[in-house]
Amino acid sequence: MTNFDKRSCYREVAAEIAAVLEGETNLVARLATVSNLLHHAFDHYFWTGFYIVDPEKPHELVIGPYQGTLGCLRIPYDRGVCGACAVQHETIIVDDVHEFPGHIACDNRSESELVVPVFDRSGRFFAVFDVDSDRKAQFDADDREGLEAILKASFSA
Ligand code: SME
Repeated sequence: MTNFDKRSCYREVAAEIAAVLEGETNLVARLATVSNLLHHAFDHYFWTGFYIVDPEKPHELVIGPYQGTLGCLRIPYDRGVCGACAVQHETIIVDDVHEFPGHIACDNRSESELVVPVFDRSGRFFAVFDVDSDRKAQFDADDREGLEAILKASFSA
């Protein structure tokens, strides 16, 4: 897929997600729909989903709706790419997960990863969106921009 095609695909899936979510207020329904439509829109997505801040355990994420092979159930903030994203509140792109200190291998076929922080309408951080590829260096600025826009429109607007 060229970068031009990738940007077009993000625009198309963003419109599809907005249409499907129109009027739906349930958070689980919204998270599940976003992970499903994104996962099936791109060939480079191997695992796609959310880890949610656990209100009962400060500094720990718990698995949310996802697509792909079995995900780890819990990630403390001091572990993994997701934990780093939960601390930094910034998108993280990892070209080679084997070189990221503390990376958690839920499936050892994962080779590269992108994690985006997710905020609610009051600006409160409540989840991370995690996408893994089974090939190295699959995520770039176009993925980051496409995903940040979709997550903002779906959960912060
Ligand atoms: N690799 C992630 C863990 C989640 S799985 O990729 C589904 C991490 O290091 O945080």
